[in-house]
Amino acid sequence: MLDLTFTHLTIKPMDTTVEKIGAFVGKQVRLTGWVYNKRSSGKVRFVLLRDGTGIIQCVFVQNSVPEEAFELADSIPQESAVEISGVVRDEKRAPGGYELNASDLKVIALAEPYPITPKEHGIEFLMANRHLWLRSRRQVAILRIRNEIIKALRDYLEEQGFLCCDTPILTPASVEGTTTLFPVDYYGEQVYLTQSGQLYNEALCAAVRKTYCFGPTFRAEKSKTRRHLTEFWMLEPEVAFLDLDGTMDLMEDMICYLVNRILEKRQSELETLERDIAKLKAVKKPFPRITYREALEILKNAGKIVEFGDDFGGDEETVISQAFNTPVMIHRFPAKIKAFYMKRAPENSELALGVDMIAPEGYGEIIGGGQREDDLAILEQRIKEFNLPRDAYSWYLDLRRFGSFPHSGFGLGLERTVAWICGLKHVRETIPFPRLLEKVYP
Ligand code: 4AD
Ligand code: MG
Repeated sequence: MLDLTFTHLTIKPMDTTVEKIGAFVGKQVRLTGWVYNKRSSGKVRFVLLRDGTGIIQCVFVQNSVPEEAFELADSIPQESAVEISGVVRDEKRAPGGYELNASDLKVIALAEPYPITPKEHGIEFLMANRHLWLRSRRQVAILRIRNEIIKALRDYLEEQGFLCCDTPILTPASVEGTTTLFPVDYYGEQVYLTQSGQLYNEALCAAVRKTYCFGPTFRAEKSKTRRHLTEFWMLEPEVAFLDLDGTMDLMEDMICYLVNRILEKRQSELETLERDIAKLKAVKKPFPRITYREALEILKNAGKIVEFGDDFGGDEETVISQAFNTPVMIHRFPAKIKAFYMKRAPENSELALGVDMIAPEGYGEIIGGGQREDDLAILEQRIKEFNLPRDAYSWYLDLRRFGSFPHSGFGLGLERTVAWICGLKHVRETIPFPRLLEKVYP
C-alpha cells in the first residue's frame, strides 16, 4: 500500500490530479492545489481548484459537508493552498468535462491578499509580478505549447538522424557581430555569453554529419521591440554536404512538422489563447522562396522604398509576411549586411547565400541561416574585413584546413516561434522569465 509522508500530507491511492480525473468517475478522490476562484449561490458554494495540471470546479453543498469546510469554501482567499476531497462526476457543461462533489476542504496554507485578481491589470504590473502571473490559465497554456514546440523540434531532428551535441555558453568569439556581446570576466580574460552555437556546430557536423544544439543565447540588444529579448533560446541544426537549397528544404519541412504537431496535441491550449487555428492550418508546403531583390519589389509595391543594401526591420518583415499565408523564405541578401561566415553566391559575389524565414501574420523573422564559407583564403580575408580578432577564430579556420566541405544550417528563435504559434503580440509572454532591455526582475 502506497503511503508516503510528504511534508504534512500523506499520499494515498485516492490522490490524483485534474489531468487524470477522468479515470475516477464515481470514485472518491483527494486533490491538492490552489484556490483559483470561487462563488456562492444559496446553499451551494463553488471553488475552482487549480492544481497545475488543470482546473476543476468543486461543489460544496450545505449540510452534506462539514460546517467548517462549507464556511471555508466561501471565505478562503484566492491562491490559498488546499486539499479537497470528493466524488468525481461527469459534467458535460464543465470545462474539462468533470466536476467534484466535494466532501471536505482542508487548508494547507492560507494566502495573503493576492495581487493578481480576475480584473484587468496593466502590463508593467503583470511583468513585475511575473512569478505569480505564470499561474494564470493563459500563461500555463503558453508554457504547455512552448514545451510541445521544443519536444516536436527535437523529435523531428532525431527522426531525421540528427545528433544533439551541445555547444558552450562562454565563448571567446562573436558570431553575429561585435555590437551585441555581453562580456564576462573569465579569470582575467574577456569572454562573452554566446550569441549562437553555430561555429561549434560547424566543427561538430564534421564529426557526426548532422548535428544540432539547443540552448540559451544572448544578445545585448539596444532595441526595445516586441521581438527582441536579450536572452533567448535557439535551436540550431548544421549539416555537412548540404547547400542553401537543401537547408531551405529542411527548415520548411521542420516547420510543417511543428505546426501539425501543435495542432494535433495542443488544440485546447490554442483555444484558451483564442488562436485563429485556420491561420495555422494554412501552413503547408511549399513555402515561397524569394530573393532579397524580389522582397524589395514587394515592399515597393506596398509603398515602402527600401534601397538595395538596407537591412529589413520589423516593419519591412511585417509587410512582406502579409503578402503570403505561409512562412516565406528570403534568400540572397546583400553580403554587406550579413555575417562574416556566409558564403557568397556563385553568380554574384555581392550576394550572400543566407536565408531568413519570415513567419506569417506579421510575426517577423523566426529563422536565420544559410550556407557557410568553406574556402580558407576567403574566410581569412573576411575575418580581416570584419575586424575580428584572428586568434579567437584560429580553430574555426582549421575546419577549412582539414578536409573542408560545403555545409549549411540555421537557427530557429524559440520565443519568436512560440509568439507566432500562440498568436502573441510580444515575446515577453513566450518565456517564463523574460530578459529584456533594462529588465531582469524577477
Ligand atoms: O538570424 P540570427 O542572428 O542567426 C544566427 O544566430 C545564426 N548564427 C544561426 C545559425 O545559422 N546557426 O538568429 C537566429 C534566430 C532569428 O531568426 C530569431 O528568430 C532569433 O534567432 N533571434 C532572436 N529572438 C529573440 N530576441 C532576439 N534578440 C533575437 N535575435 C535573434
Ligand atoms: Mg537574422
